[in-house]
Amino acid sequence: MMKPSRGKPPLYIITIVICAVAFMVLLYTERISTTSSNSFFKLKSCSKKVRVTKSQKSKTDEKSLEINLHNLEEDDRIDFDPDMCSVVHGKWVLNSSYKPLYSDRRCPYLDLQVSCAKNGRPDSDYLQWEWQPDDCTLPRFNPEIALKKLRGKRLMFVGDSLQRGQWQSFVCMVQSIIPEKKKSMKRGKVLSVFKAKEHNVTIEFYWAPFLIESNSDLHIIGDPKKRIIRVDSITKHAKNWVGVDILVFNTFVWWMSGPRIKSLWGSFANGEDGYEELEAQTAYRLGLKTWANWVDSTVNPNKTRVFFTTMSPTHMRSADWKHNNGIRCYNETRPYLKRGYHGTGSDPRIMKVVSEVVNRMKVPVTTLNITQLSEHRIDAHTSVYTETQGKVLTDEEKADPKSYADCIHWCLPGVPDTWNQLLYAYL
Ligand SMILES: *[C@@H]1O[C@H](CO)[C@@H](O)[C@H](O)[C@H]1NC(C)=O
Ligand SMILES: *[C@@H]1O[C@H](CO)[C@@H](O)[C@H](O)[C@H]1NC(C)=O
Ligand SMILES: *[C@@H]1O[C@H](CO)[C@@H](O)[C@H](O)[C@H]1NC(C)=O
Ligand SMILES: *[C@@H]1O[C@H](CO)[C@@H](O)[C@H](O)[C@H]1NC(C)=O
Ligand SMILES: *[C@@H]1O[C@H](CO)[C@@H](O)[C@H](O)[C@H]1NC(C)=O
Repeated sequence: MMKPSRGKPPLYIITIVICAVAFMVLLYTERISTTSSNSFFKLKSCSKKVRVTKSQKSKTDEKSLEINLHNLEEDDRIDFDPDMCSVVHGKWVLNSSYKPLYSDRRCPYLDLQVSCAKNGRPDSDYLQWEWQPDDCTLPRFNPEIALKKLRGKRLMFVGDSLQRGQWQSFVCMVQSIIPEKKKSMKRGKVLSVFKAKEHNVTIEFYWAPFLIESNSDLHIIGDPKKRIIRVDSITKHAKNWVGVDILVFNTFVWWMSGPRIKSLWGSFANGEDGYEELEAQTAYRLGLKTWANWVDSTVNPNKTRVFFTTMSPTHMRSADWKHNNGIRCYNETRPYLKRGYHGTGSDPRIMKVVSEVVNRMKVPVTTLNITQLSEHRIDAHTSVYTETQGKVLTDEEKADPKSYADCIHWCLPGVPDTWNQLLYAYL
C-alpha cells in the first residue's frame, strides 16, 4: 500500500537543504503564543516527490442535496452539480470588476497574520482572480443564502491554522450583512465561536492541528523533533465535535515537518518514551483512520454533514514554478497558470491516503478538493505582509524575505474564500 518513494539523489539533497534552511528560519520566526488564540504555526512542507500523479475525477459521496440557486441574482449560471462537475479541473480567471465580499479593514474578526492589505501589501490583483471549473460555473458565495442554509445550525471548522483561515474567511463573508447587535464573536485558545443571533447560526473553529492528540496541541512545541503524536487518541478533541451539524476538517502541514514523526499508540505505560518514529505518511494514515473510525462510530449521517478540506499547498521553492532566483513566494503578484501545475509543497502520497481512507468510510464525507486550485496561487500567500510576535513586520523585516516571507498561510480576503465558495456550493 505505502510505497516509500525516494527522490532522485540530486533533487532530494537540494530539497532537504532548502527545507532545512527554510525550516530553521521559520523556527526562529515562529510565534509560540500562549496569551492569544492565534497559536501561530509555520513550517516547511518538505515533500520529496515532484512527480504529478494522474489526475482523477474527484469522487463525491455526499448526499445528493439539490442545490437550488435559481433565485440567485446572478443569471446565466449553470447549476453547479457536484456529480456532474469536477471543481478540480479548471483555471483562474482575472476579473477586474470582481470585488471580494469583505476587506481586512472592514471585517473585525481577521487575525493580523492574514490581513495583508492592512499590513502593507501594495498590489491588489491577487484579490480578483476567480476559479473557473471547466465544466460548470461555481455559484458566487451569497451571504444571505448561506445564512439561510445554515439557519438553526452549528458549522464547525476543525484543524490547523490554515483551517482557521478558512473559518475567518467564512465568518467575514457572512458577517457583513449582519447588524452589529445581532452578531458576536468569542475567541478562545481552542474553540472560537461566531454567532449570528437572528439566524441562530454558529460558525466555530476548533484547534486540533493533527486532528488526533499530540503533546503540541495546546502549548505549541517549536521543535518538531520534540513533538509526539498519539495516533490512536482523538476523544479529548472529538468530544467537542459531537452535536455539530456541519463539520469541516483538515490536517496536513503539521505532518510535513520531517520525514519521520514520533508516534505513540496503545496504552502509555512507558509514558512518552514508548514512542516509535514512523514515516510521515504511515503516521498520517494511522491518524486519519483514527479520525475516520470516530466519524463512522459517532456521527449520524442523517443529522450531520462531514467535509474534509484537502492539502493546502505551500510555496517554498520558487524553482518549482521556474523562478530560479526567487525567494519562495516573495514578490509574486500573479498566479502560475500552467494547467495542472503541481509543486513540492503538497504531497500526492498524502492525497492518496486521504482518498483511500475517506472512500472506505461508512459516513459519507465530502472532500473539498482545494489542492489543485491553490497550487497555482503562488501570489496569494501572506509573504512579508504578516506579523511576528503579534506585531506587523517592520520595514526592516519586510526587506528580509529570506527570513520572514510566510509562504504557507494565505492573505484574506483571498484563496480561502474560494475554498468556502466550494463549501457553499455543496451545502
Ligand atoms: C466579473 O465580475 C463581475 C462583478 O461581480 C460580474 O458581473 C461578471 O459577470 C464577472 N465576469 C466574469 C467573466 O465572470
Ligand atoms: C437554535 O439552534 C439550536 C441548534 O444549534 C437549537 O437547539 C435551538 O432550538 C435553536 N433555537 C431557536 C430559537 O431556534
Ligand atoms: C437515517 O435515515 C434512514 C432513512 O430514513 C434510516 O433508514 C437510517 O436508519 C437512519 N440512520 C441513522 C443512523 O439514524
Ligand atoms: C521585489 O519587487 C520590487 C518591486 O517590483 C523590486 O523592486 C524588488 O527588487 C523585488 N525584490 C526581489 C528580491 O525580487
Ligand atoms: C483531489 O484532486 C486530485 C486532482 O487534482 C486527485 O488526484 C485527488 O485524488 C483528489 N483527492 C481526493 C481526496 O478526492
